Amino acid sequence: MTVKSIVAGCGRYLPEKIITNVELSKTVDTTDEWIEQRTGIRQRHIVAPGEKTSDLAVKAAKAAIAHAGLMPSDIDLVLVATTTPDRTFPSTAVTVQAKLGIQSGFAFDVQAVCSGFIYALAVADNFIRQKQVRHALVIGAEAFSCLLDWQDRSTCILFGDGAGAIVLKASTENETSRGILSTHLFSDGQYEDMLYVDGGPSSTNTVGKVRMVGREVFKHAVHKMEQAALVALKQQKLEVADIDWLVPHQANRRIIEAVGEKLGLPIEKVVITVDKHANTSAASIPLALAEAVADGRIKTGNLVLLEALGGGFTWGSVLIRW
Ligand code: UT7
Repeated sequence: MTVKSIVAGCGRYLPEKIITNVELSKTVDTTDEWIEQRTGIRQRHIVAPGEKTSDLAVKAAKAAIAHAGLMPSDIDLVLVATTTPDRTFPSTAVTVQAKLGIQSGFAFDVQAVCSGFIYALAVADNFIRQKQVRHALVIGAEAFSCLLDWQDRSTCILFGDGAGAIVLKASTENETSRGILSTHLFSDGQYEDMLYVDGGPSSTNTVGKVRMVGREVFKHAVHKMEQAALVALKQQKLEVADIDWLVPHQANRRIIEAVGEKLGLPIEKVVITVDKHANTSAASIPLALAEAVADGRIKTGNLVLLEALGGGFTWGSVLIRW
């Protein structure tokens, strides 16, 4: 009996505090017009003092578990994709597990920066296919504002905080045509200095701040996300026209539009949240998914393509029959 993963529920959480471009332009040398024109970002949510990544993750997770009609005790794998763990160790995933009152199964973090949710979905899907897990809680959660140099206008305007989660459930091929159809992961560490944090426990003994060669990242993002989409479609013998919704990582509206144009996919079929959330790293895709499910855009049976590129570089895609 072939087992696969179907999406049982999703949820999201955004911190209450919003910082608009106009507010940001009072503290750093930028303008609302520059940010909006170059990135499509209008505002970002930022954690309150003391609000941690696990706090965001738990709120999104509770919403996803309730949406799936399950109890926390049904979950046997908790994965948290994050670049901003509460502590260097233990993993944020075990903190989330404890806060949800889950005392069975196992939990760990996945670190692939902005591709983290794609990586975590692929990991969870493999555990389910191997019949080692029945219900996986996959979370993307970031307090990314903690990694920003608020004097560096080329990076601090780009990011925000938030969390999104989905619950995957084991199902069999003959039960339903729904489910994760493919996962494709890639990385190439020769680009590690294009987008990184200039600190870490074993290098500087500090947390560090985000540094980025923006234009280069932009070019790689467009090309590699297009390739990740095409490889998924080819493997499943599907066409771009078969896609109901593209849910890309939300870094820059111009990147999203360029990928859509290269694929020949109308912008009406792309879920875009970067204007409201900015780049929330590993949280951006599950936040966008949960929004589009909640407002009725993504429906059961839709073909949904997820894709991302992040520091490393890491990139990849996940194709889902919703
Ligand atoms: O999530 C992982 C992936 N991350 C990304 O995908 C981000 C990819 N990169 C980008 O989105 C874009 O490269 C940025 C939004 C970061 C920058 O946009 P750009 O069109 O590539 O601008 P640029 O870096 O080439 O800078 C153009 C000009 C520069 O001035 P000069 O040298 O032309 O005089 C910058 O100093 O814009 C200036 N600039 C700013 N001006 C006002 C850079 N940041 C700002 C700012 N406000 N915030």
